[in-house]
Amino acid sequence: MTTKKADTPLFAYGLRTVTEAAALAAYEWIGRGDKESGDGAAVEAMRDALNRLPVKGTVVIGEGEKDEAPALYNGEEVGAAGGSAPAFDIAVDPVEGTSFLAKGLTNAMGVIAMAPEGTMMKPGPAFYMEKFAGPPAVRGKIDPQMSVKDKLNRLAECLNKPVSEITVFVLEKPRHKALVEEIQNAGARVSLYPGGDVAGAIMGAIPGHSVDCLMGTGGTPEGIISAAAIRSVGGEFMGRLDPQLSEERERVEAAGLSTETWYRIEDVVSSSNVFFCATGITPGLLFEGVERSKEYDRTQTMIVAGSSGERQVLTTYHPR
Ligand code: FBP
Repeated sequence: MTTKKADTPLFAYGLRTVTEAAALAAYEWIGRGDKESGDGAAVEAMRDALNRLPVKGTVVIGEGEKDEAPALYNGEEVGAAGGSAPAFDIAVDPVEGTSFLAKGLTNAMGVIAMAPEGTMMKPGPAFYMEKFAGPPAVRGKIDPQMSVKDKLNRLAECLNKPVSEITVFVLEKPRHKALVEEIQNAGARVSLYPGGDVAGAIMGAIPGHSVDCLMGTGGTPEGIISAAAIRSVGGEFMGRLDPQLSEERERVEAAGLSTETWYRIEDVVSSSNVFFCATGITPGLLFEGVERSKEYDRTQTMIVAGSSGERQVLTTYHPR
């Protein structure tokens, strides 16, 4: 399958089958207290769907290394196309929010992003990344070194509203105690979520959602997937490797990776020819989760083709 401009929405439309398959497989595991089985089912279903698509890709953000993960491991080659077909880097998170899935909480979703080969950042041993995600109005206007207060003032200026009307998505984690205080002392609101910062980053980037930006530290793979999504939907993303575990810190240092450098969105995903799909598993703020009736399973999927700029949320009825 080629990816000329006119073909891009079609290409992204086919990609939706991959996250729909993951979401439908994970649905069986909602609220059953077993995140590993739910993730495993979604991984298998996603892999199977991906290998039916006429794409040629290598998983660069996957379920870990080959020895730990039976499928969709980093370096795994996927897709039914071969030969001279254009090659892609692929980032997957078959269940973003495995613990929400196990607990039956909102915002669990299956996610995939694709960009031309060699254009996605490979984070090596870095599990955690500090992130800023915001709407198109702040593109290039926020220096990552600015204080939280200055960032919020700049955001308010760009959005033409008072700081008191700014809401920041933050993961509710002990590491964010000081950040939350800084945001509130600056006069803005926080919206605290137990997890799911891919949804948080996308909500921050798309104007008109309940949050105006995302701040704080979450997973590095989720950061790269968020950057890919924001390259597609438009908006700002910046990230800095921020190891939280001592072994992680040692491995990041040994790999010679900087924990000071803030990577711009173009450093994280260097092409704008990005495809992104996400399907809700449990109900979320961006789209609904899987709903089952006797006749069909209903899914909602966000489909974005970066180079065409089109964004859709597609409701699909899958006959049972
Ligand atoms: P999982 O899919 O691995 O459960 O990750 C969910 C998530 O909340 C991400 O959205 C976020 O980036 C990361 O976990 C934060 O990790 P931690 O909970 O360890 O702080």
